[in-house]
Amino acid sequence: MSESWKTLENIKDNLSKKTIKQLFDDQPDRFYNFSLQVENIFFDYSKNLIDQETINMLLSLLKESGFENWRNRYFMGEKINKTDNRAVLHTALRQSKPHPVLVDGKDVSPDVAAVKDKMRRFCKNVRDKTWRGHSGKPISHIVHIGIGGSQLGPSLVVDALATYHDPDLTCDFVSNIDAHDIERITKHYNPETTLFLIASKSFTTQETMMNAHTARKWVLDHYGDPDSISSHFVALSTNEAAVSEFGIDPENMFEFWDWVGGRYSLWSSIGLVIPLMIGMDRFEDLLDGAGAMDDHFRTAPPETNLPVLLGLTGIWNRNFLNYPAYTVVPYDQRLSKLPLWLQQVDMESNGKTVTRDGMPVDMQTGPMIMGGAGTDVQHSYFQWMHQGTAPTPSDFIICAAPDHDYPEHHKKLVTHFLAQQQALMEGIENKAEPHRSFPGNRPSNAFILDRLTPYTLGQLLAAYEHKIFVQGIIWNINSFDQYGVELGKTMAKDLQDHWDDPQETNDSSTLGQLNHIKGNFSV
Ligand code: F6P
Repeated sequence: MSESWKTLENIKDNLSKKTIKQLFDDQPDRFYNFSLQVENIFFDYSKNLIDQETINMLLSLLKESGFENWRNRYFMGEKINKTDNRAVLHTALRQSKPHPVLVDGKDVSPDVAAVKDKMRRFCKNVRDKTWRGHSGKPISHIVHIGIGGSQLGPSLVVDALATYHDPDLTCDFVSNIDAHDIERITKHYNPETTLFLIASKSFTTQETMMNAHTARKWVLDHYGDPDSISSHFVALSTNEAAVSEFGIDPENMFEFWDWVGGRYSLWSSIGLVIPLMIGMDRFEDLLDGAGAMDDHFRTAPPETNLPVLLGLTGIWNRNFLNYPAYTVVPYDQRLSKLPLWLQQVDMESNGKTVTRDGMPVDMQTGPMIMGGAGTDVQHSYFQWMHQGTAPTPSDFIICAAPDHDYPEHHKKLVTHFLAQQQALMEGIENKAEPHRSFPGNRPSNAFILDRLTPYTLGQLLAAYEHKIFVQGIIWNINSFDQYGVELGKTMAKDLQDHWDDPQETNDSSTLGQLNHIKGNFSV
């Protein structure tokens, strides 16, 4: 255990004698000292149980972890994802001033630019109705089929930027292998005006391929003509062979590369639904916002670096104050899918039990993440947040200026946003009626975006991505693989292969459940 780690344990013992509220009472400059502005995002981390010594020591811990060296290797395209032998370069997709980025000695920026040009041309054609369905009708409905990182990011962004949607287009996302999902499309939409985007890095993911085949059959059954596929299907993938085998012309494929991790892929062609809905210029604004956060993360000193401070307060809460979870609460209906996106990007990245050297970790790693839009969650799990026995830190997010015409709504939203943070921190004692007591001392961060634009959204999402990187470095884990999803897939495959003759090696509960279901359902 490093010296900084031990010192932080001592700091925790001392600081825990106080409450966050007492720290505010003692330190008049606290808000000023523990907040910062990065372009259009204001970040307040003063409502954590920290003081300046805590931050200084967390910064030392970061330094000891070799953070600067790792950050350089990350941005330089070194293969820091060792188990997959891959670079981690989603940042190369969003450089405001493209410059050479080498992967295996090859500059990847011309390929990035070429795919973006192809996306721009395609989006223009669909949006100005030059691109037509097989029967000559323009496209009015886009269906994005993908799962995990190939769905959550695009779906969050499309929802968040609904203000900018093309009024002639609607879109849906289909991810679940449960056919109640795709049936929403096949029952209610017209294949002649529907365009399917098949989004899969591997083009082998069972859920996506099964939904894609069902959609393909739906279109073929309608037209009875295999040529119809080319007007209604495009692929977003790294796997050209599998795309061709599925029957999509490589001309209709938007490529990306193995150095873009699935959960970091919304910035690549996987995000094609975004420029289709909001236009390519605005998609470029989203990329620019993320690129600006990349520049900030790469160059700002650690003590004024937003993703660094977000990561370090998370480490403090997870490893020293021992909070096993944290909650993310956007006070903005448009960002209601942010917690879902963050669950994948954070928990799939940092939910790990072995170090980069394959040894068991000797500290807690990524927390459990939950969340939902405020004020709604105030009427669901916030009772637990205020009076439950498992105190949980939170990130509160709001836009200073809304994009609707109801200022009175916004005023009230802002007061709830502030009051909840305050109530979680201050609590209140009621000796006469203990059920009305609130323990308080529950930490939170706050993000205030000037307003929700493609640019600020790009900044916010990139800040979270880099926070995950910071924490992975301190925990000494590989944040960029996801072997934890494999075992369940293999077992499902085995059960699929033996549906009619299940292996006796299965436990009696698995066999019993299967038999119970088979008693009520036959294929
Ligand atoms: O859940 C595992 C995972 O591999 C994610 O990392 C990925 O985003 C998702 O599945 C989908 O993978 P693909 O894009 O290859 O279909």
